[in-house]
Amino acid sequence: MSFVTLKEILRGTRENGYAVGAFNFNSYEDVQGIINGAVAKNAPVIVMASMGAVKYIGLKATAYMVRGIAESAEIPVCLHLDHATDLDLIRKCIDVGFTSVMIDASMKSYEENIQETASIVAYAKKMGCSVEAELGRVGGREEEVIVDEASAAFTNPEDVPDFVKRTGIDALAIAFGTAHGFYKKEPKLDYERIAAIAEITEIPLVMHGGTGVSEEGFRKAIRNGISKVNVGTELKATYVSAIRDVTAKNPGEGDPRKYMCSVKQDCSEVVQRKIDIFGCAGRG
Ligand code: 13P
Repeated sequence: MSFVTLKEILRGTRENGYAVGAFNFNSYEDVQGIINGAVAKNAPVIVMASMGAVKYIGLKATAYMVRGIAESAEIPVCLHLDHATDLDLIRKCIDVGFTSVMIDASMKSYEENIQETASIVAYAKKMGCSVEAELGRVGGREEEVIVDEASAAFTNPEDVPDFVKRTGIDALAIAFGTAHGFYKKEPKLDYERIAAIAEITEIPLVMHGGTGVSEEGFRKAIRNGISKVNVGTELKATYVSAIRDVTAKNPGEGDPRKYMCSVKQDCSEVVQRKIDIFGCAGRG
């Protein structure tokens, strides 16, 4: 196994024209399904816990569970804390062995975003952990982080070099038209903005809001410079419908594993399809 940082897992992505999939999990079954899917494709994978997932599963349980699963998987696995606004929780996740964290201070002013992010980078670097931050504001709802349409704001390419230099981050989430959650209408993605940002910085760029983006949309975003693609809501929906299906087909089923193994299987299939689109199959 290799339990790696975000910095390591994203190395070479842009030069080689692929992105690594980053998938949100909320329990044992979905994370096992995600990692199984990546193993089946021999692909590197990033598994992401939100603050809510860490609180639900437990801090140590999250870190030790993923490390345990990763130990028997012969692919690079990165354990990432997604969209964290609580600095105390971020430090605790770093202490317990997460290999990457996202500090999301994007709702704050530009200078406050830099200061908060830089303080987490200083702590994380000492512990050998990577840091992702966000510049601009991705719209929609990601658990406790809610950005309405009026507050969503595309990343200004001109700000990027200064932000990257002053924070020392390892990856940057950019806003270019995607949003968290299901789309009400087809999103209009600003690919030129991705290309303009990729032109002026070498920092790996992150696309949030992967659920509902078309295959062509992913491919174009990656061609223009995206290195990490986040997918969450689609896996949540897959999880719930897997259980509903077993319940509908066999309402008398009394063995919880009969419900839960379909969650593993279905999450693995979703992840395998994404890995093919992201171009990271065979790169594990
Ligand atoms: P979706 O839930 O829209 O797939 O977005 C996930 C995400 O960006 C997590 O940070």
